[in-house]
Amino acid sequence: MEEKLLNLKEKLSTELSVATKEADVLNIKSMYVGKKSEIQDILSSLKDMSVDDKRKYGSLINNTKKEMEEMVNKKLEELENKTTVTFDDTLDYDVNIGSLHPITIVAKEVTDILKRMGFTIVSGPEMESDYYNFEALNIPKDHPARDMQDTYYLDNGMLLRTQTSDNQVHAMEKYGAPLRVCAPGRTFRNEDIDACHENTFFQLEGMVIDEGISIGNLMYVMQQVLSEVLKQEVKVRLRPGFFPFTEPSYEMDINCTICGGKGCPTCKNSGWIELIPGGMVHPNVLKAGGIDPEKYNGFAFGIGLTRLAMMKYKISDIRVLNSGDIRYLEQFKIN
Ligand code: DAH
Repeated sequence: MEEKLLNLKEKLSTELSVATKEADVLNIKSMYVGKKSEIQDILSSLKDMSVDDKRKYGSLINNTKKEMEEMVNKKLEELENKTTVTFDDTLDYDVNIGSLHPITIVAKEVTDILKRMGFTIVSGPEMESDYYNFEALNIPKDHPARDMQDTYYLDNGMLLRTQTSDNQVHAMEKYGAPLRVCAPGRTFRNEDIDACHENTFFQLEGMVIDEGISIGNLMYVMQQVLSEVLKQEVKVRLRPGFFPFTEPSYEMDINCTICGGKGCPTCKNSGWIELIPGGMVHPNVLKAGGIDPEKYNGFAFGIGLTRLAMMKYKISDIRVLNSGDIRYLEQFKIN
C-alpha cells in the first residue's frame, strides 16, 4: 500500500512538472484527486478493510490525498503568477493631450449663455422626415424656398436634415408653451465646397414661445451671445430676410473678421458673413406644434455655429474644420 501511494504521488508530480497550461493542470487534478480518481477509490475501500488495516493505512491514505491536492494547487498558483501582466510605469512615453474642436468650444459657450437665460438644450435626429424639416415649417413640397437648401434625400423616404430648425416642431410637440429651447447640431446640404461652404456644418437653433414676445427680446439674446462669444469689437448689421417659418424674418450679418470687411474669399468679397438668421415664429408653425397662435407668439433664430467658430478664431477656410487635421485643431487647446 505504501508503495502504491508513493507511486501515485510520483506520477502526479511528473505530470505536473511538464504541464504549462491551467486547463492541463485542471485535467490532471480531476484525474488524480477527482471523484473518479485512484486515490478516491483507495479511500472508499477503507471501509471494507480490517480494523487493523484501517488503523495502519487510514491516516496515510488521507494525508496522501491532501498532499496530492496541495501539489495541484501549488502548480495552479504558479501558473497564475506567471500569467500576470506587469507594466513598467517608469517608461517615458509621449502623452499627447487632445483638444476640443473649435465648433465644440463655440457650441458650449453659446449653450452656456442660453442655459443661464433659461433655455433647455434639446437635440433632434440627423436623419429627419420631410415633415419636420420642411412641411411643418410652412415649406410645402413645391415651395421655392426648398431651392435654397439642396437636400440629400434618402432611399428610405427620409432626408438628412438641412437645418436645425427641424427641432422647432419636435420641441413644441414635446414641451408645449411657454417654451425656451436651443438645439445645437449637425446639418447637411449638397453644397459646392469652397472656403465658406461645406456639405456638413453645424447650426444652433433657438426658440422662445410665450405671451407678448417681441423682436426686442430676440435682439437682446443675440447681443448677449455675440458679445460673450466673440469677445472682440465686431460690427453687425440687420437686414430683412425671408424664411417661410418666420414673419417678419431677418438676417444678421457680421463684419468679416478675416479681412476686417475689406472683402476676401471667406466672405465672398462682400465684407459680411451671414451669421444669425431669425424672426418671429409664423402662426402656421405654432399651429403645427399644437400651440394657439392667438394666445402665444415667439421668436426663433439659427446660429451658424461653424461660421461663428470661423469668425471667433479667424479661420479663413471652412474645410479645415471637418478635416480632422490634428496639427490645425491643436491650436485650440484650452486648459
Ligand atoms: N434654418 C435656417 C437656415 O438654415 C435659418 C433660420 C432662419 C433659423 C430663421 C431660424 C429662423 O430659426 O427663425 O437657413
